[in-house]
Amino acid sequence: MSDATEQDDVVISDVHWWDLAEIADNDSRVFGATAWTVHYYWAVMAQPGTVMLMARTASAGQRSSDSAGELAGWIVMSVGGSEGDVMTIATTAAARGHGIGRSLLTSGIGWARQQGAHVVHLEVDEHNESALGLYRTFGFAEWGRRPDYYPGADAILMQLRP
Ligand SMILES: CC(C)(COP(=O)(O)OP(=O)(O)OC[C@H]1O[C@@H](n2cnc3c(N)ncnc32)[C@H](O)[C@@H]1OP(=O)(O)O)[C@@H](O)C(=O)NCCC(=O)NCCS
Repeated sequence: MSDATEQDDVVISDVHWWDLAEIADNDSRVFGATAWTVHYYWAVMAQPGTVMLMARTASAGQRSSDSAGELAGWIVMSVGGSEGDVMTIATTAAARGHGIGRSLLTSGIGWARQQGAHVVHLEVDEHNESALGLYRTFGFAEWGRRPDYYPGADAILMQLRP
């Protein structure tokens, strides 16, 4: 994805290297001990077959610049062959419940389809009701579990054939 996509007052665009420190900082606020470090974000960005998209709130005067505005969320997707993967997705606590997660996932799945993915996989903590709710609205279906993958929780393995 190279062009910014505007939805209401939120702009979704590619993440650039200069956004990574801010994203990693917010990632640690969302995911705590399991957050990706900025070094890990750099390494993932360098991998072929990955895309990082971010959502930023945009005032009228900021719409022409895709790195302006407050960070509201981000998603990292990968595609290998005909298989896509949602590597991570999050919205900042202040931005939740406004459709930004849905917009990011729509863009990420759209990118994966363009890359040739026939199926998109993800894994999610069995107790993560907000993420499960988001994925189910897209039609992701559970196909397996990894017992105790997270501390005290199974990972639910889901897939979507977009
Ligand atoms: C999961 C997450 C990305 C959702 O982002 P969001 O911007 O709040 O989601 P949206 O506002 O786009 O909501 C889209 C849909 O998700 C579902 N959803 C969102 N929050 C929910 C909640 N608290 N409970 C149940 N379903 C929820 C709903 O189906 C919602 O559709 P609706 O608004 O029509 O009811 C966000 O809660 C988050 O960042 N959580 C912490 C990080 C995380 O768990 N990431 C996923 C790791 S697998």
